[in-house]
Amino acid sequence: MLSGKKVLLGVTGSIAAYKASFLVRLLIKQGAEVRVILTPSARSFVTPLTLATLSKNPVQWEYFGENDPEGKWNNHVDFGLWADLMLIAPATAKTLSKLVSGNCDNLLMGCYLSAKCPVYIAPAMDLDMYQHPSTQHNLSQLKQFGNFVIPAGSGELASGLEGEGRMAEPEEIVSFLEEQLKQGLPLTGKKVLINAGPTYEAIDPVRFIGNHSSGKMGVALAEAALNLGAEVELVLGPNSVVPKSASIKVSHVQSALQMQESVAAKFDNADVTILAAAIADYRPADFVDQKIKKTSAPLEIKLIENPDILAGLGAAKRSDQVLVGFALETQNGLENAEKKLHKKNCDFIVLNSPSANTGFGANTNSVWIIDGKNEPIEIKLKSKIEVAKDILQHIVYKRIAGSI
Ligand code: CTP
Repeated sequence: MLSGKKVLLGVTGSIAAYKASFLVRLLIKQGAEVRVILTPSARSFVTPLTLATLSKNPVQWEYFGENDPEGKWNNHVDFGLWADLMLIAPATAKTLSKLVSGNCDNLLMGCYLSAKCPVYIAPAMDLDMYQHPSTQHNLSQLKQFGNFVIPAGSGELASGLEGEGRMAEPEEIVSFLEEQLKQGLPLTGKKVLINAGPTYEAIDPVRFIGNHSSGKMGVALAEAALNLGAEVELVLGPNSVVPKSASIKVSHVQSALQMQESVAAKFDNADVTILAAAIADYRPADFVDQKIKKTSAPLEIKLIENPDILAGLGAAKRSDQVLVGFALETQNGLENAEKKLHKKNCDFIVLNSPSANTGFGANTNSVWIIDGKNEPIEIKLKSKIEVAKDILQHIVYKRIAGSI
């Protein structure tokens, strides 16, 4: 949800300001771009250097950069317009009152009044201050202005007292933001299951039969589904790229049998399942538990067929589930892909044809989307990330709008 989002983080003078460092790290980990504005007193609790290092951006706390050798004017309007969302964490009782009154006596307040984006406020203070009618009045007033208040938690406070008022933990703040950002997205509330990458079929403890799949297409699909609001589970074969977002639940597997077991366990709960993995069709009939020694005689390895995971899911699928397969074809692509669509009982098949720009490991792809009812749709060569977005738009989003 936060990937690529521009987050303006305002930090005010509370002991909880030290948690802003963890918050910045989490936001960056989720793929957000972060800029930090401090109130002057926040600098007594957390250093600009710490936050600048973690956010990879300069930290500001005054309109005129007196401490900046270039003496620049820090334009609050630019910060306010830059942000996709503003987060004030921790927000002290004093800052809450200024946010209500509009008392614009520091750069953070200037940014808040200039921001056109949603503003999230995470209060932090001692329990009596938090419960005071003035604070409660300010919080409810801020909500009425259209801001989001991230409720304070309960527990041990800096004063030594126990109660409500401590800032929500950085993980809770990030989850709160993600939940809010999901609202209104087309796949919110839907579960999407994807598999990706190759499978390795063990011959002996050191050798395997595998293929060159990188998992890039499946991982791009997982990221695209997440960005549309879905809850995403990814079953990933060995040696694959991994998703950037920590919100995608990843299960690592090696062999086709392990992939089958992992996918089957999750399939019932999935609204949409996309099988993008390059699953080995065969595996060695016997696993040799010691390394096979070299001899001058020819070596024969007997292979037996692996289960067809997609066909198994196609046979089991309910009418409220969407099942999408991939087809890798080197000749008669459209014809062969359509045969697979019917044979495996999928709703859609995405046809891939390996070439220098579209094959295993490439960052680009061009595909056809086939549903057996309408003319196939061609998606011309572009990055796998863009292709993934198109596939989800064309297939899942359209289908979901009318069916599940
Ligand atoms: N697939 C699967 N289980 C297998 C093999 C393939 O679930 N044992 C899935 C793939 O993930 C893909 C689809 O079936 O979604 C088609 O895979 P592809 O390799 O194109 O076709 P195969 O069915 O393996 O047939 P062939 O290799 O003969 O083209």
